[in-house]
Amino acid sequence: MKQSATRVILLLCLILHFLATSAQQEDPNWEKQWCIADQQTPDDVLQQALSWACGPGGANCTMIEPNKSCYFPNNVKDHASYAFNSYWQKFKKQGGSCYFNAAAMVTDLDPSHDSCHFEAVP
Ligand SMILES: *[C@@H]1O[C@H](CO)[C@@H](O)[C@H](O)[C@H]1NC(C)=O
Ligand SMILES: *[C@@H]1O[C@H](CO)[C@@H](O)[C@H](O)[C@H]1NC(C)=O
Repeated sequence: MKQSATRVILLLCLILHFLATSAQQEDPNWEKQWCIADQQTPDDVLQQALSWACGPGGANCTMIEPNKSCYFPNNVKDHASYAFNSYWQKFKKQGGSCYFNAAAMVTDLDPSHDSCHFEAVP
């Protein structure tokens, strides 16, 4: 009895150790990526995608409101980039894509500027 209990505990320790090390390995290596407006997309198309992202899309557009950190530069491309990124970071794990009818693109250059922070989550 005692011996099999020891074995179970040893096995549990092994599993825990394995889980801990595999979690550690994932962390430092993930590549940060952001979703931004494609420079080629016309403003009216971006505006539509922006309205969708901040409305039904469920992006958090607080920071592009007047007086917030990402309000400036106040133009459709920058605001759309913020909204696309917010949407993508929030929903990519559930299958949300950085697409917006081809108005968006993925980049590995951090679009953050001044006090405007673009988040990136694994
Ligand atoms: C939206 O973003 C702002 C600023 O990052 C944060 O304070 C707020 O809690 C967020 N709102 C939601 C609903 O996540
Ligand atoms: C924005 O900030 C300015 C000065 O910092 C202030 O006068 C104005 O009331 C603010 N507007 C809003 C909408 O909070």
